[in-house]
Amino acid sequence: MADRNRKATPADGKRMLKIAALGDLHVREDGHASYRDLFGEISREADVLVLAGDLTNLGKPSEAELLAEDLRNCSIPVVAVLGNHDYESDAAEDVTKILRQADVHLLDGQAIEIGEVGFVGVKGFVGGFGSRMLGSFGEPAIKAMVAESVSEAMRLENAMRQVRAKRTIVVLHYAPVVETVAGEPPEIFPFLGSSRLAETIDRFQVSAVVHGHAHRGSYKGQTPGGAKVYNVAMHVAKPSGRPYALLDI
Ligand SMILES: [Fe+2]
Ligand SMILES: [Fe+2]
Repeated sequence: MADRNRKATPADGKRMLKIAALGDLHVREDGHASYRDLFGEISREADVLVLAGDLTNLGKPSEAELLAEDLRNCSIPVVAVLGNHDYESDAAEDVTKILRQADVHLLDGQAIEIGEVGFVGVKGFVGGFGSRMLGSFGEPAIKAMVAESVSEAMRLENAMRQVRAKRTIVVLHYAPVVETVAGEPPEIFPFLGSSRLAETIDRFQVSAVVHGHAHRGSYKGQTPGGAKVYNVAMHVAKPSGRPYALLDI
């Protein structure tokens, strides 16, 4: 699988890097629909595959093994972040290890450069949006929740500072803006993401942001500072007409 990363730059002097992005594969042991063919198709269509979390359904190492097996059919570099589902079995470290062994650039507060594009990845967290964001007030449990949200935004900021490339794509699981969760029940909006991520993004020059998690959300939005945001959860309809988004970065 070492050859996957050989095709790390756009072919034929192409200026833009074509990125296929999708989230929420939710690979499960029972009735697992294989992604082999989809990964083969993506390898022909794009230069890099980005996976926006919820790679597994219950965060089991056995599910990660199934995904790693399917990824053998992917011949382009793969960049990924984990999602909340990947933490469910308290085995996120094992899931990470299995996927990294399968040559996946699994980012958790880091950045990597591929084909002159910086990829910055962090899972993100809940907390709500805009002026309705959850504030650090009251019970320790609420403060801990807000602290986690702030910590993810800070980890994103630290990763952004590592980037030297002129073009950057931010890979998240949770949404940084409310626009791309529209379509979900409003009652759960605060559990789908946090504006703190967008505040961080807007301190930098970012070409695009992709996220998942909001299965019933909307494809396109933007941060207050104008960075383009795409909800690439598999279930969200996309202009490509395919489960993955195609972005020229
Ligand atoms: Fe999901
Ligand atoms: Fe999720």
